Amino acid sequence: MTETLKIDLYADNLGKTQAIAAQLAQLVTAGTIMLLDGNLGSGKTTFIQAFGLALGISNTIASPTFTLIDEYTEGRLPLYHIDLYRLESPQISSLHLEEYWRGIDFPLGVVAIEWASKLPNIPCQHLRINLSVPTQSNTNTFENPETFNLELDKDDLDDLEDDLPKARHIELTAIGSDHIEILRQFKHR
Ligand SMILES: Nc1ncnc2c1ncn2[C@@H]1O[C@H](COP(=O)(O)OP(=O)(O)O)[C@@H](O)[C@H]1O
Ligand SMILES: [Mg+2]
Repeated sequence: MTETLKIDLYADNLGKTQAIAAQLAQLVTAGTIMLLDGNLGSGKTTFIQAFGLALGISNTIASPTFTLIDEYTEGRLPLYHIDLYRLESPQISSLHLEEYWRGIDFPLGVVAIEWASKLPNIPCQHLRINLSVPTQSNTNTFENPETFNLELDKDDLDDLEDDLPKARHIELTAIGSDHIEILRQFKHR
């Protein structure tokens, strides 16, 4: 069985998520593959933005939903950012994403893939990053019995938007020795 190392993290605000991503950016090496999963709005793009910044990429990293693959070469390592959200298996296969970790046609760098669970072929060595909103703060205000009976008008609704959950559960799972070595150096703060 392939070796695995898992770290469970809790980020109680956006800054904590960004700090985790930034620390990881100091540890990755050419050939690191990051497979990100989590619901829409869980923070995958946010994570990669903070990661890229710490890697030395000053260009704003946007969501590559329309471009599919964005390449950033100005950082410590090249960063290839891919979003599979709108794609189906056959289209994903035709992208030949493995070219990004073979290191022949593209300089070897870090590959970060959003919605990675859609990949038809998962690379055997990788770092999985799962983001989710912890269940407790996940409770929708309208389903909360204490506020359910309140009569809300539009202004109240706008106020509630500011109260959307800020906490995230972040699971890092390394598969294979190179990725495990990266995670071993990760320090809980
Ligand atoms: N702790 C947190 N970690 C990550 N994102 C957070 C956090 N708290 C609030 N957010 C917000 O959640 C949203 C996440 O959006 P995004 O990164 O685009 O998600 P995804 O790419 O997973 O769909 C952003 O608006 C971000 O500011
Ligand atoms: Mg995204």
